Amino acid sequence: MSEHWWRTAIIYQVYPRSFADSNGDGVGDLPGITSRLDALVELGIDAIWLSPFMTSPQRDAGYDVADYCDVDPLFGTLADFDALLAAAHERGIRLVVDLVPNHSSNEHPWFREALAAGPGSPERDRYVFRAGVGKGGTLPPNNWQSVFGGPAWTRITEADGTPGPWYLHIFDSSQPDFDWSNPWVHDRFREVLRFWLDRGVDGFRVDVAHGLVKADGLPDYEPPAGGSMGGDAELAPYWGQDGVHEVYREWRRVLEEYDGERVLIGEAWVLPLRRMAQWVRPDEMHQTFNFGYLEAPWDAVALRAVVDESLAAFGGVGAPSTWVLSNHDVIRHPTRLTLTPPPPQGEGIGPRSPRVDEASGLRRGRAATAFMLALPGSSYLYQGEELGLPEVVDLPDTARQDPTFIRTEGRHYGRDGCRVPIPWEADAPAAGFSPTGSSWLPQPAGWGSHARDTQRGIPDSTLEFYRTALAARREHGLGAGEIEWLDAGPDVIALRNGGLTIVSNTGTTPVPLPVGDVVVASGPVSDGELPGDTTVWLRAD
Ligand code: NOJ
Repeated sequence: MSEHWWRTAIIYQVYPRSFADSNGDGVGDLPGITSRLDALVELGIDAIWLSPFMTSPQRDAGYDVADYCDVDPLFGTLADFDALLAAAHERGIRLVVDLVPNHSSNEHPWFREALAAGPGSPERDRYVFRAGVGKGGTLPPNNWQSVFGGPAWTRITEADGTPGPWYLHIFDSSQPDFDWSNPWVHDRFREVLRFWLDRGVDGFRVDVAHGLVKADGLPDYEPPAGGSMGGDAELAPYWGQDGVHEVYREWRRVLEEYDGERVLIGEAWVLPLRRMAQWVRPDEMHQTFNFGYLEAPWDAVALRAVVDESLAAFGGVGAPSTWVLSNHDVIRHPTRLTLTPPPPQGEGIGPRSPRVDEASGLRRGRAATAFMLALPGSSYLYQGEELGLPEVVDLPDTARQDPTFIRTEGRHYGRDGCRVPIPWEADAPAAGFSPTGSSWLPQPAGWGSHARDTQRGIPDSTLEFYRTALAARREHGLGAGEIEWLDAGPDVIALRNGGLTIVSNTGTTPVPLPVGDVVVASGPVSDGELPGDTTVWLRAD
């Protein structure tokens, strides 16, 4: 395993509940992942980022943790985790786990103890409790809104039945925010880091890495249109506060006590990228998800601008840039890049939204992937994108589980459409996801047509396109390369990296195809033309 592996790694996100179900309960689990690891080796990834699998009442799909040092029975046991980690390492795949430090579940013993211990107790100081305002404290302490909709405060009732203070929850009311001004919280999380580092994990994806610390005095703030995960022009008083960087410096010191390069990956949804780069200064995290890139439209001018901005911002602090198009919080990119404009993050799409033609979406999605994989740095893939999965729009309201849908009373569809269990075998129950055919979110009709077994070995399939691109990326050292922009006509973006010429036609009209052997093509190219919504990698010699 190479030095600084993370600088160029392809990191594949496994969303455990939707990856592979071994016990037939309709929810994916850790043994399911272990049983499918060879498919990921064949795909050509370097590392897995495993979304939460820790003990949780699952009010936000595991991002509401009730025990940071155990596995939720839904997903298996600690022994299953150890087996997965060992199996991944045997195959040369690193494993990064999701850590959720901004909030716990309201069922975490730390929160239960805080409720039970009563006002003025040290236990209360673990979380953000404040007296309400107005007569009798009946109004929340300030006007903050939950990212998922509705107020960010919930009032408690004390043990003796009297109305008590309010607690802060930037997300669901089942996710109380920790008070990171309390050293007790710092101590606990360093213990959690060590627990997983001792087991051998290769690092942590840090949830809401721009949260944790809140502005002094908790000043009122008007969020843009309800709630937002971040990335707004103005920094909210609960995002990106200076003190948060000290937390990651502390954590970096812990990681550096361990051998092998263990990494911190931040979900720091702050823009512009110059600001995000503060999270990856040399003594903090190793990398952050590039949400500026994820949010860029499929447009030559916008892409060139965001790539330049990324390389300057992250390069300016000595960090690699990362690239990402899809994850479990956003509309899958083949669908999203065809929606102009896409709805704000988290709103999602559903049966009442405008339709996207799947074939055109896939064509554009593959072109965007081929462009991304040609860039230097580290790229993130989200499970199922290698199968060309579109966003599932036709989920019935009764099936939806995202707290966004529930808290906005259905005004926002939320994120379930990108979380539908993935298809493995066309003719198996639940398309190979689960032996019983059960699936926690219903798979749409025809889902099996995207199954891995229908694509494996088929040259034009999306799966083989991903495999070819990942292999060529490795062979030509693109992850460690440097780019040089080439002149290109309108709607076309062209660059050189690692001896290859990469050209994307983001328009709809074919343009002349430069000379060279085609190494990777996101779609059909012929007659010396590069059609619209297509990317090619060419070898000039
Ligand atoms: C970001 C995670 O990616 C998202 O899925 C989750 O709902 C929030 N953080 C809250 O933990």
